[in-house]
Amino acid sequence: MKNLYSNRRGFLTLLGTGIGSFLFGLPKISLTKTRKEEKMAYTAKDYSRLLGMQGFSETLLKNHFTLYQGYVTNTNKLMETLGQMLKEGKTGTPEFAELKRRFGWEFNGMRLHEYYFENLGGKGALEKTGRLSKKLAEDFGGYENWEKELKGVGTMRGIGWGVLYQDSSNGKLINFWINEHDVGHPAGCNPILILDVFEHAFMIDYGLKRADYIEAFFKNIDWKTAEGRVK
Ligand SMILES: [Fe+2]
Repeated sequence: MKNLYSNRRGFLTLLGTGIGSFLFGLPKISLTKTRKEEKMAYTAKDYSRLLGMQGFSETLLKNHFTLYQGYVTNTNKLMETLGQMLKEGKTGTPEFAELKRRFGWEFNGMRLHEYYFENLGGKGALEKTGRLSKKLAEDFGGYENWEKELKGVGTMRGIGWGVLYQDSSNGKLINFWINEHDVGHPAGCNPILILDVFEHAFMIDYGLKRADYIEAFFKNIDWKTAEGRVK
């Protein structure tokens, strides 16, 4: 659990104030859930099909799956706690505000990892005559230009995500650097391809050689999944 929060500025301070205790058990939440609440809960997906992927050790992947599962658990926990606070008339409290702020971090930590794992495990190259290939040519002047830019984004100093987004207002493809899960995502854009460049995604296998990890990532992209996200 400690690792889950180690990249989040200020959270340890938050824990020190006691607000974190809302996340870890203080609220008296009824164990009897309504059907509606059960429906809202998220279930961690199984990505064990990725084990054995070239360039990714079993240890690294299993650690990454565990980290992802933590985000799912905490997303559910936060939804439950915030729901309970609403029922108890506590929406005007600082505790509610802090947990609501935190919700974006946990939710996106869950969802971004799902996009990431789902766009991995492919074996083939991008279909040159396909929709995504044509769009990359239109918006970047060719696949190679796009790849060069996303690799540049992925090797920027700092932890975060390199994301190919599609702007739903005009269909344009744009690479973005996303520093933290809950900050900086472009409004109205859909993720097409997600690259995790938090240290946990590569350091076990590659140490500081992030560029080598990104090469391995590119060799394992599931292009069909990525292309299926293009509108
Ligand atoms: Fe990750």
